[in-house]
This record gives sequence, C-alpha cells and structure tokens, in this order.
Amino acid sequence: MARLSLKRLFVFCLCLSVSFFLIITLQAVVELGQFEGKVQRHKLPLKDRLQSQDLNPLTRTRPPTEAGSRYPLIVWWSPLTGEMGRLGECGKNKCFFTINKTYHNHPSTQAFLFYGTDFNIESLPLPRKAGHHWALFHEESPKNNYKLFHPPVITLFNHTATFSHRSHLPLTTQYLESLELLASAAHLVPLSQKNRLRRTLAPLAYVQSDCDPPSDRDAFVRELMRHIRVDSYGACLHNRDLPAPLRDSATMDEPAFLRILAQYKFILAFENAVCDDYVTEKLWRPLKLGVVPVYYGAPNVRAWLPSNRSAVVVDPEEPPESLARYLKRLDENDQEYEAYLEWKLRGGVSNPALLTEMRNRKWGVQDLAKENYIDVFECMVCNRVWENLRRQEEGLTPKTWQAEASHLSCPPPRTFGFPDGPTGGASMRGVWGLSYKQSRLEARALRLLADRNRNFTVEQFWKQVFAD
Ligand SMILES: *[C@@H]1O[C@H](CO)[C@@H](O)[C@H](O)[C@H]1NC(C)=O
Ligand SMILES: *[C@@H]1O[C@H](CO)[C@@H](O)[C@H](O)[C@H]1NC(C)=O
Ligand SMILES: *[C@@H]1O[C@H](CO)[C@@H](O)[C@H](O)[C@H]1NC(C)=O
Ligand SMILES: *[C@@H]1O[C@H](CO)[C@@H](O)[C@H](O)[C@H]1NC(C)=O
Repeated sequence: MARLSLKRLFVFCLCLSVSFFLIITLQAVVELGQFEGKVQRHKLPLKDRLQSQDLNPLTRTRPPTEAGSRYPLIVWWSPLTGEMGRLGECGKNKCFFTINKTYHNHPSTQAFLFYGTDFNIESLPLPRKAGHHWALFHEESPKNNYKLFHPPVITLFNHTATFSHRSHLPLTTQYLESLELLASAAHLVPLSQKNRLRRTLAPLAYVQSDCDPPSDRDAFVRELMRHIRVDSYGACLHNRDLPAPLRDSATMDEPAFLRILAQYKFILAFENAVCDDYVTEKLWRPLKLGVVPVYYGAPNVRAWLPSNRSAVVVDPEEPPESLARYLKRLDENDQEYEAYLEWKLRGGVSNPALLTEMRNRKWGVQDLAKENYIDVFECMVCNRVWENLRRQEEGLTPKTWQAEASHLSCPPPRTFGFPDGPTGGASMRGVWGLSYKQSRLEARALRLLADRNRNFTVEQFWKQVFAD
C-alpha cells in the first residue's frame, strides 16, 4: 500500500516537473532564438581563425592518438566553438582543443570546458578523474540556466568566466568596444536641437522586444508611462512606429535607428535581470549616443559608469511617479540636464575602475586585432593545466583552483507590485520566481549526484530533485 502511494507520488512529481520543464523549455526556445544570433557573432572571429589556420600547415593538426598525445587535451562539453580539433597556442604552452566528446576518457584529457547556456545535466563527463579541471564559460543573461547560479553548482567548477568581476576571467565589459567609442561625441545631438525636437518627441525612449523578463521592467515602465511620456518603439508597450523604411529591417545597431535614438534626452536602459555586474549594451548604447540612460539593472552599476554623473540610476524602492518628477525637472532645466553630459562634453571618462578594467582587458569586442574572450578563456585553462603538469614533473603538489559562489550569483527575481498589462495571465511575469526556486532544488540534486561521481540518468536526477 505504502509502496503504491509512493509510486503514485513519484509519478505525480514526475508529471509536475515535466510540465514545468515544458514551460521553461518553451521559454528556452525563445531565448535560444536570441542566443543564436549571439553565437553567430562569436563564431565570426572563430571562423576567421579557422580559415587562417587552413593556410597555415603548422597549426593544422590531427587529433592525438591513443598512444598518448604530446599535448594536454581540453574537451569542450558543448558545440560552442564548432572545432573538432585545434592545437591552440597560449604563449609557450600548447593544448589540443576539441568538441569531440569521445575524448572523455582519453589519458591526455586534462580539462572540460562548459558553456553555461547549454550546460545540461543529461550527460556530464562523469566520473570525474582526480586531475580533471572543470571550467565554466557563461557570458549570457542570468535568465539563462538558473541552475548554475546556486553555490552547489557553481562551486563544481575550478575556473570561471562570467559577467561577475569576481570570476577568474571577468566578462563584465563584454558589450563595450572601447573607451574611445564610449566617450566619442560623434552621435551627440546638441541640447538646443533636442529641445526643439521635444515638440514631437517624448523626453524618453524605450525599445524592448523581450517582454516580461525576470527584472519585471515592463511593469515598472508601464507605471512610469502614466506619469511621463515615453516613446516605445519595441514590441513591449509599443506606442510609436519607426519611420517606414526602418520598420521591417531595423536592428538596434543600424545608423538610421541610432540617429533617431540620439534625438532623445533620455533612454530607458532596463536590464532583463538584476544582478551585480550584469551590465549590457542597454547601458553603453545611450552613453555612446550622448543620451542620458535611465538605468535599472545591476545594483552596483555606479562602479562601471564613465563618471559619477552620467546616468539616472533607478531606485526600485521609489515609486515611478517620483522618477517621472525628477526626469521632468531635468527636461525643463538645461543646466541640470547637461550636468549628466558633462563627462562627454568636457571631462571624459573619469571612473578609475573602468579605466583600469579597459586598459587591462586582454580581449577585444568585434575587434579582429585582438583575441576574443573565448580564446582567452581557453588559454587561461590551458596555462593552468600546464602549470600543474610542470609542478607534477618537479614533484610538487598540484595547485588547486576553485570557483566561489560569488563567481555567478543573483538574488531571486522579484516582481513589482504594479498590476499586469493587457496580456495579463499570458505573460511570463510570475514564472521567473518559480523557476528560480525550482532551480535551487535542481542545483542541490545535481551536486549530490555529481559528488557520487557516477554518471546518472535524467530519471535519477528528477527523483533526487523531489526527494527532499
Ligand atoms: C571523434 O573522435 C573519435 C576518436 O576518439 C573519432 O573516431 C571520431 O571520428 C571523431 N568524430 C568526429 C566527428 O570527428
Ligand atoms: C565626481 O567627480 C568629479 C570629477 O571627477 C569630482 O570633482 C567630484 O568630487 C565627484 N563627486 C562625487 C560626489 O563623488
Ligand atoms: C577542481 O575542483 C574540484 C572540486 O572542488 C577539486 O576537488 C579539485 O582539486 C580541483 N582541481 C584543480 C586542478 O584545481
Ligand atoms: C554510465 O557509464 C557506463 C560506463 O561508462 C555506461 O555503460 C552506461 O551506459 C552509462 N549510463 C548512463 C545512464 O549514461
């Protein structure tokens, strides 16, 4: 009897988790659509690199043989790079990188590289041998794969590259090409002209087509719109169309579109998730254009701003109405408004932390003269692997590296108290909090199974998730 009801409970839990999984998967499909665009961007330099290698027989290699390879093998547990085999040079060290998972148990395999967005419990390289390094690359939005954001999972890794400035290879400025571009006044529309344009334009622009993400930004903006005019061009809270020639083809980086945005006094720069150090092009774009960002996202955003007066930082505890009042005041007072552009007009970038970060950054953004961050990540791991191989040779104890909880962490998503929009129950608004809670259970289960150091089935995983 007891066995029967246990079984029933298990089936019930399985159904519950499957339906939950479906919802999340649906969302993930939407996400992946956006994510693929990004991978294409990554792949551009990668493809260039591969082409240049074809011309260079020295770097074109065959996979190592069973007899043992001269080079440490590093296996990408993800199709991210698309490279079946490449001998990478990292200063004086060389490593063989591959996405071919059959090298899991090869004696030369030293490290596994994971990509956060497709990190999947279904087939982890378990058992993990004593010397196996695990490294995580996750540059995506926190809304992508919450499981990784809990201490039991992030601390599985030895090496990290994430948006957090605490990770081993911080990608915090991954959306910022250069300080020159940031400070450039090329797009700046003079204030006198912005004032004239105000006859037809709202003081603020909003352009968002990913509606109701974990930050619940649309609820805040909807409320804000009751107190100040906002021109909203994107799918979310849409109230203004782009000029006809731009309507179909417009991408955010098109010069004609940037010219339209540059005419505004303010742009609502609201991230899709709220975590320290998670700053994206939403912040940098208005700064580049000479428009004042009204920013909501990383609570520590001031650490990354070009100067101490370059953005209006939204306090989520304050009602949108008082933000509207403040923006109207700036809109009506040229001197107060221009104080926010002082850094662009005269002072330049003065934040020492940002200056240092950009000076020391080893990778470039859309800059073929520099390495991209995936190469730099691969080499970080390759060099650390070599460091331990040398120590081993010299009879020293190997060094250990360990990811800490702070390398990838976000508070649970919260919704504002404002009412739903017209789409109401169909929106994703309520799902993020649940998804986060669920991911905490999954993280605990995953850690437990990984610590057993045996491969496991998806069924075992879900059983473990609901075991507590
Ligand atoms: C992956 O590596 C194995 C050898 O371990 C090889 O037989 C196989 O052809 C490789 N797969 C691809 C797609 O290259
Ligand atoms: C802001 O920066 C300016 C110039 O860099 C400096 O003179 C001023 O004291 C700073 N203000 C605050 C509140 O930190
Ligand atoms: C990698 O992390 C695991 C788990 O924390 C640890 O046991 C191992 O010693 C670490 N290896 C290296 C090379 O740092
Ligand atoms: C676990 O690994 C063993 C041996 O490597 C393999 O035979 C088995 O099919 C694997 N099981 C799962 C669930 O992947």
